[in-house]
Amino acid sequence: MTHEETNIESVLKPASEHSAGIVRRMRPADLDQVEVIERSAYFSPWPKRHFVDALALPNYRCLVLEAGPQVSGYCLASVVANEAELLNLCVSSACQSRGFGRQLLTELHHRLVSEAAKIFLEVRRSNAPAIALYQSLAYQSVGVRKDYYEAPVGREDALILACDLSASDDAQAP
Ligand SMILES: CC(C)(COP(=O)(O)OP(=O)(O)OC[C@H]1O[C@@H](n2cnc3c(N)ncnc32)[C@H](O)[C@@H]1OP(=O)(O)O)[C@@H](O)C(=O)NCCC(=O)NCCS
Repeated sequence: MTHEETNIESVLKPASEHSAGIVRRMRPADLDQVEVIERSAYFSPWPKRHFVDALALPNYRCLVLEAGPQVSGYCLASVVANEAELLNLCVSSACQSRGFGRQLLTELHHRLVSEAAKIFLEVRRSNAPAIALYQSLAYQSVGVRKDYYEAPVGREDALILACDLSASDDAQAP
């Protein structure tokens, strides 16, 4: 039975000293909170309609993390032909450094492992917190897109990272 079939809400064991949030599938009712977090986090935030569209696409996996009554973070990935792409991972600024980003991404990997062998992502070269998180979950650099992103001044490279999901899921198993 897959995670999508069970529609479970999962509370994963977070990194040692951090408290756990609840990770569950994103719903339309979450999108107002998601939009607020998105706008505060990114130089070029997604418009709300991107999230609306993502929820309607059968090959998209969209999760939120709730800490108490609030949505505190979310992630979205697409799956095509046995490969996943992480499209967005974000934790509200007030809730960062509590293990929520790691919890979201670990749960996403766990849910994807039955349908994708690898996950890819693009990240700004300057995004040290995100790169540290990805490296700690065994992502490896597989390429660079030169001047891919708009930046406050000029443009910025995207690093392309990839992670082998079966190895990653084994490493996360208790
Ligand atoms: C990247 C992001 C999702 C991390 O979420 P988070 O909940 O703060 O991260 P966690 O608390 O789970 O930390 C996980 C790991 O990330 C790294 N990390 C997190 N914050 C960091 C910081 N400020 N500096 C350096 N490394 C950091 C560490 O490796 C950390 O592991 P550790 O706690 O064992 O040291 C969050 O900073 C964020 O939403 N940023 C804005 C949106 C964004 O840039 N998303 C990524 C787009 S590619």
